[in-house]
Amino acid sequence: MAANKRPESMERITTEALAQSFIHEQVKALQEQIGDKKVLLALSGGVDSSVVAALLIKAVGKQLVCVHVNHGLLRKGEPEQVIKVFRDEMDANLIYVDAVDRFLDKLAGVDDPETKRKIIGKEFIEVFAEEAAKQDGISFLAQGTIYPDIIESDKGVKAHHNVGGLPEGLNFELVEPVKLLYKDEVRVVGKALGLPDNMVFRQPFPGPGLGVRCTGAITRDRLEAVRESDAILREEFAAAGLEGKVWQYFTIVPDYKSTGVIDGKRSWDWPVIIRAVNTRDAMSATIEELPYALLHKITARIVSEVKGVNRVLYDLTPKPTGTIEWE
Ligand code: XMP
Repeated sequence: MAANKRPESMERITTEALAQSFIHEQVKALQEQIGDKKVLLALSGGVDSSVVAALLIKAVGKQLVCVHVNHGLLRKGEPEQVIKVFRDEMDANLIYVDAVDRFLDKLAGVDDPETKRKIIGKEFIEVFAEEAAKQDGISFLAQGTIYPDIIESDKGVKAHHNVGGLPEGLNFELVEPVKLLYKDEVRVVGKALGLPDNMVFRQPFPGPGLGVRCTGAITRDRLEAVRESDAILREEFAAAGLEGKVWQYFTIVPDYKSTGVIDGKRSWDWPVIIRAVNTRDAMSATIEELPYALLHKITARIVSEVKGVNRVLYDLTPKPTGTIEWE
């Protein structure tokens, strides 16, 4: 597995100049490996797959076929941004698959977190394999594997963290241009490739997406409450200068209700729970000490703008004992 070992002599990519020289080398290597053949890539819009897409577009242009699967569990604005950046601005060969109903129908009534994860992972592979089968003459499968993925899979950590990963059984040769890079280097390369900051410096987002933040059995109305409250949280964090400073922040909408009063009338609605944590490796995490004024502002916006919500809570639990996600 020598090709999967980062050489001791490899310099850490910390500057635009080092990123440009990496890009130059990789474009050449990709052109040699791929020749005039076609490459398929599952493009989630996360940092790693986006950087791989941008590198491949530079190297082989329309020989790259990007597949973006919208499973209905993405954050507000994400599918639109993938289309804008890759199809409109980079002129990529992008297939957008609206699989929202398909995923949500399969998930209807399923309340066990691990079963939800399995359904999302399995369905993702099926949708992707179906799209692959519609394409003629694909020889390669590109993946946004990064160095920590290789280290972690060697150690057997993170079995369930690979939703959106390799569709096994597809007989393609792999193309993994950033597999020897650490996350910070992938970001430097992404910036040098001209990807937008909110894509390059994006916080981690789990493969099962908002599905693990709409606890218990997912319903469309509660999923919408997760999506809308998450968008408000992200907007307010950006306005307060916290974007890129707090490691991960999001909202959860649990599947129970409480009494409240809205416009003088009794309401029976969901709470929104805010989570904002800092960590180095996600194995343990501490709570961001958010200013009360910011919490008040976010609360006021969520209860007035998000349908079906009458309370906002801030989760003060570090990891351990709480995991970062609620499921
Ligand atoms: P936990 O909840 O285990 O999360 O403390 C640690 C980090 O992993 C992310 N996470 C996932 N990522 N698929 C993923 O791709 C998953 O099923 C999954 N579960 C948790 C979580 O967002 C956090 O960054």
